Amino acid sequence: DIDVYQKTLKRFEELVPTLPRSKGWMTNHLVQYQGFWLIPTSPLKAVILMEDGHFKPQPTDIFLSTFPKAGTTWLKALIFATINRNNFDFSKHPLLTTGPHDCFPFLDPRNFSEIESLPPPRLLSIHYPFCLLPESVTATVGCRFVYVCRNPKDVFVSMWLFSNKMRPKEEPPLSLEEAFEMFSEGVSNHGPFWDHVLGYWKASLESPDKILFLKYEEVKRGPSVRVKKMAQFLGQPFSAEEENQGVVDEIVRMCSFDNLSNLQVNKTGHVVHISHNFDVIVNHSVFFRKGQVGDWENHLTAEMIQRLDHITNEKNEIISQVL
Ligand code: A3P
Repeated sequence: DIDVYQKTLKRFEELVPTLPRSKGWMTNHLVQYQGFWLIPTSPLKAVILMEDGHFKPQPTDIFLSTFPKAGTTWLKALIFATINRNNFDFSKHPLLTTGPHDCFPFLDPRNFSEIESLPPPRLLSIHYPFCLLPESVTATVGCRFVYVCRNPKDVFVSMWLFSNKMRPKEEPPLSLEEAFEMFSEGVSNHGPFWDHVLGYWKASLESPDKILFLKYEEVKRGPSVRVKKMAQFLGQPFSAEEENQGVVDEIVRMCSFDNLSNLQVNKTGHVVHISHNFDVIVNHSVFFRKGQVGDWENHLTAEMIQRLDHITNEKNEIISQVL
């Protein structure tokens, strides 16, 4: 309904100037909504549209939810390959010629209507904090979520280096110190990091059949085990025959950092990111840096390590078990 949609847009336009603001990591500023820092044009707008019921969830919807830099690209590839394992031949797989972000796009205010018409199960990637999702998505309709969390020190380093690649050439780079201060204060897109993780962690304890909580480090250590767990959770468990035929191993191999990052499409291709004020051409290669656990050791000072560990331990008891 156009009138209702216009009403929501008006509500959104009126809301933005009333919210606390901070400098962003790239060019955009961030606004704080219900405790979370968001880029107004995409995450916040989508959240407001969802609040007013403009996104119609389906019970078969599969959400991949991540804090930025926690492993979104990898999990997109793994989930896409798992769900579509009977639709494509591994030698002619779309992931070999199309970047993971094109195979499995982000839910964005500008593609709500396209998403309406996708065949089930719809694969929807989001970074939104759990508490900002409407009840229709999280409870009534009962969509499934795969959440991926990663060590905050690795997330921070990955985000800092990524943001500097994404900043316009005319902008000076964001210093490690400045980025660190912002991250520690919770000021980054979809931050505070710790509250994001905690929201999904608590929800996964309450609804283990709806929210699968994975850790990047665990997927790294045992990708096959996690892929099998994920397939089961998504209602498409691997049969013994599939396992014997090596289907799981093939998915893991195809989606590995070495394989994906060396594909021509991911070396030279790009995706048009629509999460900012204007379309941004983003090279697929920026989503593949090192793909390792513990690279923070090469970037952070002893004080920085101590401060992030301190925040993690302070945040609360549950989360210190998580991270
Ligand atoms: P690093 O910067 O630590 O290398 P996101 O996809 O959420 O934006 O996260 C990007 C991070 O995931 C980057 O981390 C990137 O290198 C890593 N990554 C991308 N593809 C991966 C893969 N197939 N396996 C493991 N890590 C991957």
